Amino acid sequence: KKRYTIAVLPGDGIGNEVIPVAVEVLRLAGSLEGIYFSFEELPIGGVALDLVGVPLPGETLTRAKQSDAVLLGAVGWPKWDNNPKHLKPITALLQLRAALEVFANLRPITVLPQLVNSTYLRKETAEGVDLLIIRELTGGIYNAHPRGFTTNEQGEEIGFCTESYSASEVDHIARVAFNIAKQRRGKLCSVDKATILEGSMLWRKRVTSMASEYPEVEVSHLLIDTAAMDLVRHPRQFDTILTGVMFGDILSDLAAMIPGSVGLLPSAALGDSGPGIFEPVHGSAPKHYGKDTVNPMAAVLSAAMLLRYGLKEENAAKRIEEAVCDVLDRGFRTRDIHTPGTVSCPFFSSSLGKIELNVTFMTRI
Ligand code: IPM
Ligand code: MN
Repeated sequence: KKRYTIAVLPGDGIGNEVIPVAVEVLRLAGSLEGIYFSFEELPIGGVALDLVGVPLPGETLTRAKQSDAVLLGAVGWPKWDNNPKHLKPITALLQLRAALEVFANLRPITVLPQLVNSTYLRKETAEGVDLLIIRELTGGIYNAHPRGFTTNEQGEEIGFCTESYSASEVDHIARVAFNIAKQRRGKLCSVDKATILEGSMLWRKRVTSMASEYPEVEVSHLLIDTAAMDLVRHPRQFDTILTGVMFGDILSDLAAMIPGSVGLLPSAALGDSGPGIFEPVHGSAPKHYGKDTVNPMAAVLSAAMLLRYGLKEENAAKRIEEAVCDVLDRGFRTRDIHTPGTVSCPFFSSSLGKIELNVTFMTRI
């Protein structure tokens, strides 16, 4: 029997509504595959600030590092918005990503046939979309040096944050993207702003030179502005998208409107070794918290990614994806879905649990 330790970090707001669903589904899918989990719940974000005064307690980090995978909800709450930066919930997330060295952020966007009417685009534009954004996560402008505040000669305040990418950082994430693209439909689109930014110029040069090692992968380059337009105009042309931390953040929210709700999007953050972080793309959603109306799909599909990428338990991952499809086939929809949706988060969740998580194939993410 296989055993894994999962660090469970629900964090703030709706993290506490969707993560219990993901945990339950993991337990069920695992038991059907002879996999046993021990779940260790740990505080992060605002919850941790309340408890011990810092957003990422040492204990949470230590245990996360010792785990086989980290399942994370969301961090952030208005109460903490005016905190100094080192005491903001969001800082915990950046610190955790840095400490676990999870440089590769995988954000799949698929339009399931059951949800094709939920798109904000025309149905015929959205149907069949199956793309993966691979976002660099631990470098770039988020992790800038130098950065800070200063004043100029006129005494005017200046805020600055300098983007840089080194050749090795670009190669590191590009290697992941080429290998994944090779296993998907063999198309890799690298997104940058190489007309203006030095980091992007180097990015494009390194991706171009790595392409010669992957003759089976068809590589293209798009500027971020064109990529944004093309994602809306003709999203089916994309297979694997490779981009930096900032552009990847924006493009993934933009792309969320193709399936029609950020409540549908899972993500994985992976390093070369050690535990990955698996979390829904959505945030803590203060406006929706406490109503049991949010969509647990993003968290549940993040649990499937945890199984696939974190633990290499493909069969259990497929069971979860199939269960999600079964629940959708029965017509259950939470309210974020653009088509009539009335089902509560707990109801959606109990429906998942009732399903015999059978193995059949969904779309591979
Ligand atoms: C995301 C979030 C984070 C990011 C924030 C909360 C730091 O927006 O995961 O997309 O920008 O990486
Ligand atoms: Mn984001």
